[in-house]
Amino acid sequence: MSKVSTRIINVGICGLGTVGGGTLALLNKNSAEISRRVGASLQVSHVATRSLNYEQVSNIHHSGTDPFAVADDPSVDILIETIGGYDPAFDIVKKALLNGKHVVTANKALVAERGNELFEIAEKKGVVLAFESSVAGGIPIIKAVREGLAANKINWLAGIINGTGNFILTEMTSGAGQFEEVLKEAQELGYAEADPTFDVEGIDAAHKLTIMSSIAFGIPLQFDKTYTEGISSITPEDIRYADELGYCIKHLGIALRTEKGIEMRVHPTLLSKSRLLANVNGVGNAVLVHGDAVGATLYSGPGAGAEATASAVVADLIDIARHVVAGATSPIYPPLGYTQKYDDVPILHIEDIDAEYYLRIPAIDRVGVMAKISSILQSFEISIEAVIQKEAVNGVVPIILLTHRAAERKLNLAIQDIEMLEDVKGKVNRIRVAPFDRAET
Ligand code: HSE
Repeated sequence: MSKVSTRIINVGICGLGTVGGGTLALLNKNSAEISRRVGASLQVSHVATRSLNYEQVSNIHHSGTDPFAVADDPSVDILIETIGGYDPAFDIVKKALLNGKHVVTANKALVAERGNELFEIAEKKGVVLAFESSVAGGIPIIKAVREGLAANKINWLAGIINGTGNFILTEMTSGAGQFEEVLKEAQELGYAEADPTFDVEGIDAAHKLTIMSSIAFGIPLQFDKTYTEGISSITPEDIRYADELGYCIKHLGIALRTEKGIEMRVHPTLLSKSRLLANVNGVGNAVLVHGDAVGATLYSGPGAGAEATASAVVADLIDIARHVVAGATSPIYPPLGYTQKYDDVPILHIEDIDAEYYLRIPAIDRVGVMAKISSILQSFEISIEAVIQKEAVNGVVPIILLTHRAAERKLNLAIQDIEMLEDVKGKVNRIRVAPFDRAET
């Protein structure tokens, strides 16, 4: 039997909420297994948490409420940031990096919006800033794209990367009611945040997509250029009509390389029911990645939850600990996967994309209305692929159209004109069709 190393690596955890608490518990539960994998013992020597639960921290040498004390203590080798948000998380991570510590963070908002700055500091100091748990919880998608698919030119990726949003759409699909009712259920079950805006308006997914796009295409993190649209305008009727056309509706984060530039967009999407991604339900996450050599690969699993997310945090910790044990003087992997980034690739505005579209038009059931709508679409060179007209409710019939590929800028103008028709009563609901739906993969 080989000898187990007695070397100790000190770890400090800042934030003992769901993810931090889960990380502490997992490190305790699997400590023997982890030591054998690393060849050293990972010891949680410090914790900082807003309110101390003495039972939880009784075996820890240093516990307190000041995370900066952890960032400043020279005996801490690796700091884990599981506080979330920007303030004080940014300053804690920055301090720890400047003090020459490796950092593991689960904070997607921090990485997506302030990561460029933090990675620069990490690089200068020769330390690792790891963030596997910031995207898709327990699914090791960062490592898969950055390391496993490193030989490929990534063509596109698309993911269900917000569990709360997927839960809501899944429930609405199975007839649980309107958006507001199902959201309430998600809150009661503890999936959605008390303020669920980040989940349902797509901001959480946009953070994750920003991070994945940088790794996939070698571009700087550009959260402000990621188009973000939530799911609050989706109705059970849209889900039913999409179903009749052979699609389900999923809230996807899509990153796509085109000749004009890179598309980064989060929005409700029509997805062919036959695709594997269409069958990822509830709070599950999944990411489909297409590389030019490997083709399409799919990664799925739990996107949130204490133990699942801790699994990714501890995986990062193990990587860094191996790095420490090996005595490496600089990180093996550039954090975003590329040693030389592509700084000048344009990120396309949503109006510059081309897509196929689902339109729900609330119209008066009158002779000639369809002809007027077709004529507007034709004048913007938008051709119709399918039409379904439903029964009238209070004299208004929903006309459902599926278009062929069209320019979004032109479609916006066409929608404006359609909404101005006397026979159209209300807003047109538009949902984009997944760009890879018809492709062989
Ligand atoms: N609120 C997030 C979700 C948690 O619902 O997916 C994980 O990032």
